[in-house]
Amino acid sequence: MYRTHTCGELRAQDKGKEVKLAGWVNARRDHGGVIFIDLRDRYGLTQVAFDPKRSKDAWKIADSVRPEYVVQVTGTVRHRPKGMVNKKIDTGEVEVDGNGIDVLHKAKTPPFEINTDEEVNEDVRLEYRYLDLRGERMKNNVIARAKIAKFIRNFLDERDFVEIETPILTKSTPEGARDFIVPSRQQPGKFYALPQSPQQYKQLLMVAGMDRYYQLPRCFRDEDHRGDRQAEFTQLDLEMSFVERDDVLNLAEELFTSLVTKLYPHKKLLKKPWPRLSYDEVVLTYGTDRPDLRFGLEIVELSDEARGGGFAVFDDALSHGGVVRAIAATGAASFSRSQIDELSEYVKEFGAKGLAYIVVEEKGLKSPILKFLGEERAKSIVKKTGAAPGDIVFFGAGPEGVVRESMGELRTELGRRLNLIDRNLLAAAFIIDFPLFEERKEDGHYAPSHHMFTAPRPEDIKLLDSDPHKVRSWQYDMVWNGYEVGGGSIRIHDAEVQQKIFDLIGFSEERTNEFSHMLRAFDFGAPPHGGIAPGLDRIVMILQDEPNIREVIPFPKNQRSEDRMMGAPSPVEPTQLKEAHIKVVKEA
Ligand code: AMO
Ligand code: AMP
Repeated sequence: MYRTHTCGELRAQDKGKEVKLAGWVNARRDHGGVIFIDLRDRYGLTQVAFDPKRSKDAWKIADSVRPEYVVQVTGTVRHRPKGMVNKKIDTGEVEVDGNGIDVLHKAKTPPFEINTDEEVNEDVRLEYRYLDLRGERMKNNVIARAKIAKFIRNFLDERDFVEIETPILTKSTPEGARDFIVPSRQQPGKFYALPQSPQQYKQLLMVAGMDRYYQLPRCFRDEDHRGDRQAEFTQLDLEMSFVERDDVLNLAEELFTSLVTKLYPHKKLLKKPWPRLSYDEVVLTYGTDRPDLRFGLEIVELSDEARGGGFAVFDDALSHGGVVRAIAATGAASFSRSQIDELSEYVKEFGAKGLAYIVVEEKGLKSPILKFLGEERAKSIVKKTGAAPGDIVFFGAGPEGVVRESMGELRTELGRRLNLIDRNLLAAAFIIDFPLFEERKEDGHYAPSHHMFTAPRPEDIKLLDSDPHKVRSWQYDMVWNGYEVGGGSIRIHDAEVQQKIFDLIGFSEERTNEFSHMLRAFDFGAPPHGGIAPGLDRIVMILQDEPNIREVIPFPKNQRSEDRMMGAPSPVEPTQLKEAHIKVVKEA
């Protein structure tokens, strides 16, 4: 038997027990002849004391061990002397009076100290991920992820959902990203694609009558990595038959509300029920379709008020069909001139030409643009923004797209700088009523704003012929704290409408043929259906208060899409290439 207890288990009532523990040496200290070893395993830390008076042999070995040695110790549990109790750890009331120690495995000095407070280079952490995972933070994240997944499974199992696996080697299901492709050995020149999501399979499962499906599938999109994006990530993918939009949203809301209440009781849901906001409304008010609703700072439309005011920047923008919008930044009057200049540089990253502003003071308004706008007009503009003394009103003028994005980014930056973000708040919302298509492309075709299986709203179907860009869809997104954490829709279940969408997005006959299996399946009787796919990584990241999803993925890729630990991607043997009928024309 390697151990009688784990390193997180012993308590005061275990006093007097003879125990055997095994784990890693977290730290070794020599206190006037007595060697103290903090022994670590997944469950916690236990202090073991080796006194040469108890066992000279054990003391000698204890003296020789180094951090990360794997050891087995035997000894007697005793209370720690008064004043030596460590409240920070669960086993802090006791220690083991060691009388034996075996080194099971020596360890080299690790490239970084486990549980160090110092920042360790991320590539080094990823190269030695197994050491990184020994630390509290990573360990907790991995365990939290498992608990979240288990909660989800239990919740859905209780509601008649069936967990069904779908293939990884399959055919392209476009979600707007590049596919990863896998050459076929048996059919030279042909390729499988890794699924960007199980979208088609889950719809086909509805045609199959499975009614309520879910799984936690890996999805693959050959995209550049970012803080909230990995090429390989995990969704909670689900689909339901005979449902309308609100049935899907209610289920997702209930699932995640009960998950947060149970597993993260300290997180306060900002609003219950979650707001369901229209795309048009949030894009105007927050400058993005994934607003962070933990704070206000709404964007105010001021085009009418600013028109003809005599300030060239505003007048020019408006006469070119643009807009003027503003944010009243609560308490920003304390910003220094250079802080304001920084913000002005910041919005330029998003195409803005500048950042006009008016400081609201008790005595009145202060701004370089007052002389152009005039006191009266400036006052009425400031009033409309709701700004009070102590605030600054920041303006964006220009083309709608640029003003929308730059003011949206400014809003987020101001939320951060003004400390308006309560980290324990969870602001969850659904964004609904997305347009079916994104802007029209140069070739006259349309790009689906979600994916091509999303249904248009029935009352808008007639617009598909006349004004496709006006068609609203049954798409919805789930947004938490400024992140898009899920997306889904009610699907097209009518082959004719599906064909029409293919036409509008400009699918050639050939391309349409690639999806003929979907059209054919629908012809055999498709139930009305819809679903949603929350991104598991982003959800765990937010709940664990981590700044990026790499921290909650056990083995993520780095920013250059490399697995540093395994050394992937890597060249393969020429024979493997030959078997796969692949000729490499350019080496990296
Ligand atoms: P969508 O493409 O919106 O929808 O993706 C759903 C959710 O998956 C997460 N996600 C990602 N997470 C990490 N890295 C990525 N590269 C990444 N891409 C997406 C996000 C996103 O909201 N099949 C549809 C769902 C449906 O219609 O039911 C789909 O995949 O949290
Ligand atoms: P200018 O007339 O270019 O010196 O600009 C006067 C003020 O308006 C400065 O504070 C600029 O930062 C600001 N400004 C310039 N262009 C814009 C714009 N497109 N939107 C908002 N403010 C702007």
